[in-house]
Amino acid sequence: MKAVVFHGVGDIRLDEVAEPKIEKPNDAIVRLTANAICGTDLHLVRGTLAGMKPGTILGHEGVGIVEEVGSAVRNFRPGDRVVLPSTLACGNCSYCRVGYFAMCDKANPEGPDTAFYGGPSGSGGYQGLQAEKARVPFANINLYKLPDGISDDQAILLSDIFPTGYMGAELAEIKPGNSVVVFGCGPVGQFAIASARLLHAGRVFAVDSIPSRLEMAQAQGAEIIDFEAEDPVETIKGLTSGIGADRAIDAVGVDAVRPHHGPAGKKAAKKKAEFEAEIKEIAPKTGEHGDNWHPGDAPSQVLEWAVEALCKAGTLSIIGVYAESSRVFPIGNAMGKNLTVKMGNCNHMRYIPMLAQLVKSGVVDTGKVLTQSEPLLDAVEAYKQFDLRKPGWIKVKLEPAVPSAKAA
Ligand SMILES: NC(=O)c1ccc[n+]([C@@H]2O[C@H](COP(=O)([O-])OP(=O)(O)OC[C@H]3O[C@@H](n4cnc5c(N)ncnc54)[C@H](O)[C@@H]3O)[C@@H](O)[C@H]2O)c1
Ligand SMILES: [Zn+2]
Ligand SMILES: [Zn+2]
Repeated sequence: MKAVVFHGVGDIRLDEVAEPKIEKPNDAIVRLTANAICGTDLHLVRGTLAGMKPGTILGHEGVGIVEEVGSAVRNFRPGDRVVLPSTLACGNCSYCRVGYFAMCDKANPEGPDTAFYGGPSGSGGYQGLQAEKARVPFANINLYKLPDGISDDQAILLSDIFPTGYMGAELAEIKPGNSVVVFGCGPVGQFAIASARLLHAGRVFAVDSIPSRLEMAQAQGAEIIDFEAEDPVETIKGLTSGIGADRAIDAVGVDAVRPHHGPAGKKAAKKKAEFEAEIKEIAPKTGEHGDNWHPGDAPSQVLEWAVEALCKAGTLSIIGVYAESSRVFPIGNAMGKNLTVKMGNCNHMRYIPMLAQLVKSGVVDTGKVLTQSEPLLDAVEAYKQFDLRKPGWIKVKLEPAVPSAKAA
């Protein structure tokens, strides 16, 4: 079968690989009808989330049809149409039993890190979903049977980014009426905005520099701020009578970029050397090819802005991904303002059943975030365009070219 395979930092290829097989009684094999590229995949290819083993199939977002189940899988059968949550859980340990699925003690045989498909070696060694088929471990808990009336285009967004955006809003402790600033208007940021609205936020500010992403945020009712044109901290303060926002959500993560123009650009330029020292520690090995696979140039920029833009006693929620090697956070400012800081990998299965109902009923229109559908066969080119943030590209779905999948 065809799959997108990590060969090294800055080197991914579409390879012919062996099909997965049932290895344990609680495994299932799913024939994927859709998978997608995520900001997390970009960190892996850029080298800002290190530790990928060459030969790993990338991707952790998938929708498909169950093809085979092991003898211990009692709640699914061949033919079921399912979405695959990105993080893997056992459903049975003390963490899973209280809904901390990303903290599962058993799904990762290699240690305490969150288990997910297609990740670094410490994340469990599971092959990813940018392929024609996948092996799902602990399939009884790591599949969700899709209700009728949800298309692949909608379902693929339930696999990772809608739950993550929702968890970001939940961690931000949004109360009705609160003002919320969302940093990053990529797919996760868009769903953080939608989720802040679901939780009855009053005002939502959205910060990015990419026009099409800011426009989409504005279409959701957010008050947009282009960090290349104005200083986001000053602007948020100005729009809130000097108080700051009640809640902030970091939906950017380790590949944050700094402004290169405008008033914020001048401030950030002074920190160039500090940011460069951070990058060296975070991504000792990079693999730039022309314009592709450049790490962000300011890993802690969003953390700094978020802490500054919050009001006293506000809450910061971090769902953008930072690895162990990210060690810069403005602890003094956060302490001085009595901030609450919450963060983490998404407990996908905790949210998917509820969010699927919101999608099915039309309460949330997921359709607009997915801007591209490309054949899996063109995945490498799609990755490159997504990495360049090609105008208009926000979320890319990949379609495996399996004839039977087309018919499904
Ligand atoms: N916690 C989790 O479980 C989880 C799950 C999925 C994704 N993520 C993470 O969420 C983050 C966002 O994912 P995505 O798919 O939306 O990524 P993306 O790369 O498509 O979007 C990131 C956005 O941030 C913007 N940005 C860069 N620097 C910025 C700055 N200084 N200020 C404001 N915006 C800035 C970029 O222009 C871009 O639009 C990534 O770090 C990803 O790894 C986390
Ligand atoms: Zn993802
Ligand atoms: Zn568990």
